[in-house]
Amino acid sequence: MIETDQIAKKASMLEEVITGLSQEQKTLPSKFFYDEKGSQLFDEITNLKEYYPTRTERKILEDNVNEMEEYLGEEIVLIEPGSGSSEKTRILLGSMQNICCYIPMDISGDYLFKVADQLRDDYPDISIQPLSADYTKPFELPESSPEVRRVVFYPGSTIGNFKLEKVEQFLEVIHDIIGEDGAFLIGVDLKKDIPVLEAAYNDSEEITAAFNKNILEHINRKTGTNFNPDLFDHKAIWNNEKSRIEMHLFVKEAHSVLVDGVEVSFKKGESIHTENSHKYTLEEFEDMVSEWFEVKKVWMDEDQYFSVQYLEPK
Ligand SMILES: C[S@@+](CC[C@H](N)C(=O)[O-])C[C@H]1O[C@@H](n2cnc3c(N)ncnc32)[C@H](O)[C@@H]1O
Repeated sequence: MIETDQIAKKASMLEEVITGLSQEQKTLPSKFFYDEKGSQLFDEITNLKEYYPTRTERKILEDNVNEMEEYLGEEIVLIEPGSGSSEKTRILLGSMQNICCYIPMDISGDYLFKVADQLRDDYPDISIQPLSADYTKPFELPESSPEVRRVVFYPGSTIGNFKLEKVEQFLEVIHDIIGEDGAFLIGVDLKKDIPVLEAAYNDSEEITAAFNKNILEHINRKTGTNFNPDLFDHKAIWNNEKSRIEMHLFVKEAHSVLVDGVEVSFKKGESIHTENSHKYTLEEFEDMVSEWFEVKKVWMDEDQYFSVQYLEPK
């Protein structure tokens, strides 16, 4: 059963890799950044001096956790798609008295279960029910999750990683999961000076470069392909028209790689586009979610670099 599951996952990964690398602008799905190594590299990124989002969002959460608890209600189940290390969530788990159950969800299963064990030790009064699933596809909550208000917590401005056409699909999934009485607490990165943005994704210690290249290493490990990360350079660029930071892997010298029998050719100077991080004004964000959610409260830092927003379903 487990073996069949792994074969299916490998086939689906190969299919997505071939599809992405067959396009004129080559792409790879950003969810492939994350195996255990990718998750650990991401955690290192969050501690970099240039990477303002994590520390800014943490401070907003710490400064406003009590008020957030009031908004969320008396008894809730907290669901976190793409929970990773759950580090920021600890601010909520440690301070809010209203969380009876926490459902961390992640595609990187091994890492998720390790984190969940640690959380069980640290928060014995909260039922911790990890769910290893891809949240871009339809999913169901564990049957044992309690019948109380459902709150989806989605920090890190991960919403900015979706292409615009996929955001709506995601918002609809969240809207359905929480139901009409639920709530959505979401971290949203705001527009700011371009040098600040570009520095955050091109750090001097080159951890982001290692993270970006791990997408190729991860695909090699899972499927047996032979991408050579040394033949690529990491670069993050601000795309003003689309209001987003784009991460790319630029090809240093022409070469080709065999992917499940399909030859993929790389020309010198072309790139694989691996991730987008959209940045918003408050109005743009409100507009984007308006079909599904109403923004009820916004918390920000002093510089207005980042926001945490409380939304209710329409
Ligand atoms: C950028 S980290 C964010 C971690 C955390 N939420 C935070 O704000 O610090 C993204 C996490 O989402 C997970 N992830 C990415 N795409 C996913 C998907 N489609 N389904 C489930 N998890 C996903 C990754 O494995 C990773 O742990």
